[in-house]
Amino acid sequence: MTNLATFAAGLPKAELHLHIEGSLEPEQMFAFARRNAVAIPYADVEAVRAAYAFNNLQDFLDIYYAGADVLRTEADFRELAAAYFARCAADQVVHTEIFFDPQTHTARGIPIGTVIEGLLAGMADAQAEHGISSSLILCFLRHLDEADAFATLEAARPWLDRIAGVGLDSSEQGHPPSKFERVFAAAAELGLKRVAHAGEEGPPAYVTEALDLLKVDRLDHGNRSLEDPLLVARLARSGMTLTVCPLSNLKLCVVPDIDAHPIDRMLRLGLRATINSDDPAYFGGYVNDNYRAVAASGRLTRDDFVTLARNSFLGSFLSDADVARHLAAIDAYAAAHP
Ligand code: HPA
Ligand code: ZN
Repeated sequence: MTNLATFAAGLPKAELHLHIEGSLEPEQMFAFARRNAVAIPYADVEAVRAAYAFNNLQDFLDIYYAGADVLRTEADFRELAAAYFARCAADQVVHTEIFFDPQTHTARGIPIGTVIEGLLAGMADAQAEHGISSSLILCFLRHLDEADAFATLEAARPWLDRIAGVGLDSSEQGHPPSKFERVFAAAAELGLKRVAHAGEEGPPAYVTEALDLLKVDRLDHGNRSLEDPLLVARLARSGMTLTVCPLSNLKLCVVPDIDAHPIDRMLRLGLRATINSDDPAYFGGYVNDNYRAVAASGRLTRDDFVTLARNSFLGSFLSDADVARHLAAIDAYAAAHP
């Protein structure tokens, strides 16, 4: 590892774009399948990994939703979270805002409470064992309709005081943010933060819709914003956080290779970009694997990595006092590693 990659890996950081179902490693998939007597269409762990070759987002989603079928009990969700938090601890991720997809589970007859209670238990364990803080972001599946999203928000009501915000994920093309304008307005009324995947595969107009119609506090991916200079200027001026996922972009063919990833351009344009893992079990690595991959591509400086780590807290939903505390820890780390 280069000095730069080692420096980046050691920085205290937050993760703002992580689908907990996407942290299901093949080994755990087999363990849960056995425990819950669920059949999976793979002979062994190697066969699972071999299936993780994707040409686009939909290729991935098909396999990702199939994999989630092994998750059945509160204990499964708690252990899934525990495995992810162990990776956070190893990667100096001290705070994480976790996406979960209730509809992936409720459609299979798993009560939303099973999902949420399991995750909350795992989050409490992580706070106690690793000192890692976390919150939950409930994502609506955009390939489903508005009524289904409203029903999901309603089902989550008993837990809304434990949920930081709502998000929007799944198949982007053909499912513009406008489809969910009313449900995001309802979420805002309930005091929830709002984020949305936009501009991963969808056009810059979807990013504009996420801003204007969903009134998002943060933008997930946002890569295709770069095609529209006026949109870039708007995002930079407003200090909008982009949760960028380099290895995900590589695996889903959003970029042709890691050396072509625009993370350096985003920073030069004044965008508040962050680095995240998205679905680490499927895309070849956790947060520090992403930091190391962009470090290896040689276009970022030491100051850029400090900026990326700072942005991860600045873009979080933590209190100002907590953000200040984490920024001070970054300064201390940078000072101790000249
Ligand atoms: N994009 C859209 N939906 C998703 C993703 C993603 O990268 N990961 C999990 N669901
Ligand atoms: Zn994502």
